[in-house]
Amino acid sequence: MRLPSSLSGKRRGESWRTADEWLKSEISSSSCHVQDFDPTSPHDEAMSIETSTETASTSDRVHDWRKAGEAWGHSADDWAYLYEHYSLDVMIAIFQRVGMTEGLRVLDMACGSGLAVRHAQAMGASMAGIDAAETLIEIARDRSPRADLRLGSMFELPWDDGSFDAVMSINGVWGGCEPALEEASRVLRPGGMIGISFWGTGIPIDLRACFIAFALHAPQEHFGSMKKLNNIAAPGVAEQMLAGAGFEVLERGARVSVVEWPDAELAWRALSSVGPAVPALRHTDPAVVKSAVLEAIDHCRDERGAYRFQNDHHFVIARKAD
Ligand SMILES: C[S@@+](CC[C@H](N)C(=O)[O-])C[C@H]1O[C@@H](n2cnc3c(N)ncnc32)[C@H](O)[C@@H]1O
Repeated sequence: MRLPSSLSGKRRGESWRTADEWLKSEISSSSCHVQDFDPTSPHDEAMSIETSTETASTSDRVHDWRKAGEAWGHSADDWAYLYEHYSLDVMIAIFQRVGMTEGLRVLDMACGSGLAVRHAQAMGASMAGIDAAETLIEIARDRSPRADLRLGSMFELPWDDGSFDAVMSINGVWGGCEPALEEASRVLRPGGMIGISFWGTGIPIDLRACFIAFALHAPQEHFGSMKKLNNIAAPGVAEQMLAGAGFEVLERGARVSVVEWPDAELAWRALSSVGPAVPALRHTDPAVVKSAVLEAIDHCRDERGAYRFQNDHHFVIARKAD
C-alpha cells in the first residue's frame, strides 16, 4: 500500500487527517473486503475470538486464549521495551482513581509484560497479574519477582472470591470480554474498584493507519474476526459492559497516549510487536509489511526523523456494590 506522495512526509497542521481520509477511502474501494474492519482495535485478530454469526452472543464465542497469547507474545522484548509505555497516562489516571496505595490488593488482568504491575508495586500495592502470553509473563516476573503473576485466561481467574481491593486492565478488555468483567467482579471484595482502558475513536488516532496497513496484508479470512471487538470504543459500550457485570459506573476519562521512537527501525520493531501484526507478518513478506506500515505512519515523523505516535486513549472507572 502506498500513500500518494502529497500525503506522506512530515506532520503539518491537519495533513495527517488528509492521509487518514485517504486510507479510509482506499480501504472502502479495496477488493479485499476490509470495509468493516475497525483498525483502532489492536486486539482483533490476536484475541482470536470467533463467532458463528455476526450477531452471535458472547456465550457463543470461543476464545482461544493460548492463541491470543502466542500472537501477543511473538516479539515480547520489543513489546515490553519499545511499546508498552504507551499506557502511562491512563495508567496514572486509573491508579489515582482506584486509590493505589500501600497494601492495596490489586489484580492486573491481561497484564502483559507487567509495566503497570511494577509501578503499582512501587506505590506499595500488593500485586497480582494474569496474561495469556508466556513470554510477556516471564518478563513481568523478572521485573516484579514479589508479584503473584500467572499465565492463564482472564475468563477463568485462578483466585478466590473477594481476593482483591481493586482490578485494572490496561487495554486488555474488549467487546466480547464481558465474562472477564464478571470474573473481575467475583474476585473483587464488595465495594472494590475497577479501572479499564481502551482506544477511543477521537483525534489523534495514529494507530488507525498502521492497523489498516496490517489488515491489508493479512489473509482475507481473518477480516471477519478482525472487526468484532472494537465496539468497546463506541460511546457508552464500556459502561454497559461494566454495568452488565454488576458494577456501578463512576467515570469515563480520556488521555492522549504518546509513544516516541528515535528512528524508523525502532518504530517498526515496536509496531510489529503487537499481536495483530502477526497475521500480516505470516501472510506477506515482512519487508513489504514494514514498508507499508512506515508509509502509513509517516505523518508521525518529525524533521529529525523521530516519530511521535499519538492516540486517543479512554478509561472507565467503576465500583462493585457493597
Ligand atoms: C493490548 S495488550 C495489553 C497488555 C498490557 N495490559 C499493557 O497495557 O501493556 C493485550 C494483552 O491481552 C492479553 N490477553 C489476550 N487474551 C487474554 C486472555 N483471555 N486472558 C489473559 N490475557 C489475555 C495478551 O496476551 C496481551 O498481553
